[in-house]
Amino acid sequence: MKQFYGKKVVVTGAAGGIGRLMALAFAGRGCDVIVTDLNQEGAEKVAAEIRAVGRQAWAYRLDISRVEDIQVFRSRIRKEIGRIDALVNNAGVVYGGVFEMVPIEKHLMTYAVNAAGLVAMTHAFFADLLESPESHILNIASASGFVGLPFGATYASSKWAVIGFSESIRLELQERGFDHVGVTTVCPGYIATGMFDGVRTPKLLPFLEPDKIVAKIMDGVEKNHPYVKEPFMVKSVDLLKGALPQKLWDKAAQALGITSSMMHWKGHGR
Ligand SMILES: NC(=O)c1ccc[n+]([C@@H]2O[C@H](COP(=O)([O-])OP(=O)(O)OC[C@H]3O[C@@H](n4cnc5c(N)ncnc54)[C@H](O)[C@@H]3O)[C@@H](O)[C@H]2O)c1
Repeated sequence: MKQFYGKKVVVTGAAGGIGRLMALAFAGRGCDVIVTDLNQEGAEKVAAEIRAVGRQAWAYRLDISRVEDIQVFRSRIRKEIGRIDALVNNAGVVYGGVFEMVPIEKHLMTYAVNAAGLVAMTHAFFADLLESPESHILNIASASGFVGLPFGATYASSKWAVIGFSESIRLELQERGFDHVGVTTVCPGYIATGMFDGVRTPKLLPFLEPDKIVAKIMDGVEKNHPYVKEPFMVKSVDLLKGALPQKLWDKAAQALGITSSMMHWKGHGR
């Protein structure tokens, strides 16, 4: 998306973490932002921060695990604010731990938010994005969408789903000739927002600084990059996994500390 000024952007999970920073970054480029989150008070604060820099902002409580709520929300936005031009699918949850010790409700909620919620948001706002002269879908996946993540199996697999969905939709838009709708999939390693407190970061994958990753994401949107993969190691995971026999890759992932990184997770959601 080259032109930002005056465009309307919906950001999910924007009350804190990188969602808040992305909402502020879009506003900093001249967009008006619809700030949504489970946490209404947090969303109101972020909307106030955006108004303080001179852009319009609206705050809504939205639980993206509830498909009916998403449909009502979209109709409300269309009526009260109008067509949107960009959708930032950022909201996400993680419930780490030994697989059978984590209640099944939490495993299933991980899919409901990270995968099904993201698909339902994209479905609800798709007509807006096709109608806009230049629009963008920004999906926040994870580096764990390329690898197995012990003690985070449903989190990682929800992000595998996001990557597969995002790539398929990007190619479907191209096949249908809708070149004005960009799609960027973001695959970061661990970010220092609190979501993954307690993890032992793997070798070559130190905690990313929220501000720095958001700057790379915005650059990716502006240049319409299909992927933003950070840090550098994440860019070569596909290549390594494709080139190495599975057993060798499993050993490499173990040696790098990827497979044990979640063992001491105590981030939000616990
Ligand atoms: N922090 C990391 O290490 C990391 C790494 C890779 C990818 N990500 C992804 O980045 C995104 C943002 O993560 P973050 O680190 O800023 O986390 P965060 O926990 O700080 O922010 C997530 C936000 O999503 C909101 N949320 C949770 N459930 C929701 C629901 N059902 N409906 C609406 N909002 C909901 C929360 O209230 C919160 O404000 C997530 O998708 C996460 O999976 C994070």
